[in-house]
Amino acid sequence: MVELPKTPSLRLDGKRALITGGSSGIGLGSAVALAEAGAHVVIAARNESRLKEVHESMAEAGYSAETLTMDVGDTKALVSQINAQPAFDVVVNSAGYARPAPALDTTPEDFQQVMDINVRGAFFVSTSCARAMVDAGNGGSIIHISSQMGHVGGIDRSVYCASKHAVEGMIKALAIEWGPHNIRVNTICPTFIKTPLTQVTFDNPERVEWIKSKIKLDRIGEIEDIMGSVLYLASSASALVTGSSLMVDGGWTAG
Ligand SMILES: NC(=O)c1ccc[n+]([C@@H]2O[C@H](COP(=O)([O-])OP(=O)(O)OC[C@H]3O[C@@H](n4cnc5c(N)ncnc54)[C@H](OP(=O)(O)O)[C@@H]3O)[C@@H](O)[C@H]2O)c1
Repeated sequence: MVELPKTPSLRLDGKRALITGGSSGIGLGSAVALAEAGAHVVIAARNESRLKEVHESMAEAGYSAETLTMDVGDTKALVSQINAQPAFDVVVNSAGYARPAPALDTTPEDFQQVMDINVRGAFFVSTSCARAMVDAGNGGSIIHISSQMGHVGGIDRSVYCASKHAVEGMIKALAIEWGPHNIRVNTICPTFIKTPLTQVTFDNPERVEWIKSKIKLDRIGEIEDIMGSVLYLASSASALVTGSSLMVDGGWTAG
């Protein structure tokens, strides 16, 4: 007889997960994927009425969920809100911001806003959650929703690309620092996905042509295209994966 290897489980029963930006788009898809796998999900975003509606839908679907009104642009507040929570096992940082514009039209205020949410927010969500993970001693998985634009350039996206390239560097350094605590830090890098964030781009026929010309699989992404990768990186199926970027880009960055 041969001793057969065991396929790692994708279940997350008994785990607690924080999802920033969990009330819409990719974050909402992440929350559903993790809750369906058995995790208790804490869904964080700013708009309370939207959070209330999401909570109702999650409860009706039978998922274990709570909401947290949080602005990742307010570092002091987010740190104290995360400190007030029991340690998380899984974190999906999906809160993000884009203001597509030519570089020559970009104001210091626009630049600051993108960096505050996409880089500073991502950093302090990571460190606040990791501190409690270290204290709890159970390890954890921190997943940032970065972008294919963390690996290439894009039209009208100089600041957004700068912010996502920063996230890609950040997770590599954090993976080195927190590996000894079994805290894994990775990114998911989606191509264009239909969400409220990208509506302005999809309203522009020239941009739609550009997008279609770059995605080898010849279709725009859906939220469901991201959910499996979130589950993979959250679970023991990816136990040896850290400091990595999972491209979910339909082949955009292949060439
Ligand atoms: N959609 C795409 O094509 C695409 C592609 C690659 C990467 N991404 C990245 O994926 C992430 C999610 O994008 P999405 O398309 O899913 O966007 P979305 O549908 O607009 O959702 C954004 C979510 O983030 C929350 N949020 C925004 N600012 C926040 C803040 N300051 N503090 C806390 N929560 C905040 C929003 O809720 P409130 O407004 O109520 O706070 C909402 O829940 C972003 O990081 C984005 O850069 C998206």
